[in-house]
Amino acid sequence: MEIIILPTAEDVAQLAADIFEQYARKGATLGLATGSTPVAMYTELIRRHKEEGLSFAQSKAFLLDEYVGLAKEHDQSYYATIRREFTNHIDIDDAHVHSPDGTADDIPAAGIAYDHAIKEAGGVDIQLLGIGTDGHIGFNEPGSALTSRTRLKTLHPQTIEDNSRFFDSPEEVPIHVLTQGLGTISEAKHLLLLATGEGKADAICATVEGPLAAVCPASVLQLHPKATLIVDEAAASKLEHADYYRFAFEHNPAWK
Ligand code: PGA
Repeated sequence: MEIIILPTAEDVAQLAADIFEQYARKGATLGLATGSTPVAMYTELIRRHKEEGLSFAQSKAFLLDEYVGLAKEHDQSYYATIRREFTNHIDIDDAHVHSPDGTADDIPAAGIAYDHAIKEAGGVDIQLLGIGTDGHIGFNEPGSALTSRTRLKTLHPQTIEDNSRFFDSPEEVPIHVLTQGLGTISEAKHLLLLATGEGKADAICATVEGPLAAVCPASVLQLHPKATLIVDEAAASKLEHADYYRFAFEHNPAWK
């Protein structure tokens, strides 16, 4: 894992956009995430598309997860969210923006079909990840099998509370989701996890310096050959080896 600690959330968004831009230029298959953390990176990529001609026309995209039972047209469905926040503002073909079908009659079959679609597309080249305060990635809540595939999960009450800010009330947040599994996510060739703010400090500490354990699903990044974590100072505030990560970043020839 490479841990990159930057002063502010805006710095995190800029560096993440630089990395994503390199993949977009190659027409890579992009793994997208919803949530508030990636929005600043998406905004910067939209700016680069509009002002600098960065094109996504050759890319396909796969979303991490979707609420079960929420109509695609609902403004909080991730189908609608990713379009509103990112893909409607760039030149990616909308038919190439995929998400799990949370409205399917047969949710387990929809999960299997989604994994199959990712494979058919040649796999995800770079997967963007946020992290929940409970250490989830995608919607893999604590206790998720480290090899899990796309499947139905029940949200943790903490996640329901965290996400209720997007709905009129906590009762409106769906309890079930269809999410790429930790095994599915781990098949992406490059994992890029972003975290900003003090609220993520415990989860980042458990991910980076805790044991590999299903209780902190993001710790599965410890097994991945190419995982990059970009965090701001607040999210890094509980890392014991923060000075070493800074030193390593400063001296990494790849960033020269
Ligand atoms: P957030 O969500 O970016 O809105 O904090 C992250 C997540 O739950 O994965």
